[in-house]
Amino acid sequence: MEEKIEWILRRRSIRKFLDSPIEEEKIDLLMKAAMAAPSASNRQPWHFIIITDREKLNKLAEIHPYAKMLEEAPLCIVVCGDPEEATSKNSGLTYWVQDCSAAMQNLLLAVSSLDLGGVWLGVHPNESREKEIKEFLKIPHYIRPLGLAAIGYPREEKDPNTHYRGERVHREIFEG
Ligand SMILES: Cc1cc2nc3c(=O)[nH]c(=O)nc-3n(C[C@H](O)[C@H](O)[C@H](O)COP(=O)(O)O)c2cc1C
Repeated sequence: MEEKIEWILRRRSIRKFLDSPIEEEKIDLLMKAAMAAPSASNRQPWHFIIITDREKLNKLAEIHPYAKMLEEAPLCIVVCGDPEEATSKNSGLTYWVQDCSAAMQNLLLAVSSLDLGGVWLGVHPNESREKEIKEFLKIPHYIRPLGLAAIGYPREEKDPNTHYRGERVHREIFEG
């Protein structure tokens, strides 16, 4: 039981990568894991763009101000959502950000469990970043890029997560 929690705690943001390509079988597994995420009304409004072309990876590193690691990552997966598809007909609310964030987290956990390393690079809700990435990757106007995952075989090791803060856990009610 604890071993299964262990691999969740082992997920850390990895920003240094070896110069080795990622096997197609592993990319397929990452996509299966991403699309296994929970989704509001099970609409699954996600799309993914797999990028391995070195010139494109370098250009993304240029466009995104905190993504220099894409200059050495062999793989970038762009997680996108279709807000329209994710909109509830009853309430008019859209859950594309939640659904795509769940997909991104599944993807990053799968990365770590395949002995790869990766990091989430935020795009949405930075509008100018979204716009530049949409133009560069020819993303249709109705699709929104949530974020990028830079992925590769790790060239750095990190200790398991130590973010636990007991004071942030509340029982029954928030205060008291
Ligand atoms: C929405 C979001 C956006 C992020 N954007 C970036 C980014 O642009 N560049 C980066 O290097 N890390 C980014 N990160 C990774 C965080 O910096 C990282 O998760 C945090 O420092 C905790 O470290 P850990 O992932 O190793 O536990 C982002 C994480 C999230 C959830």
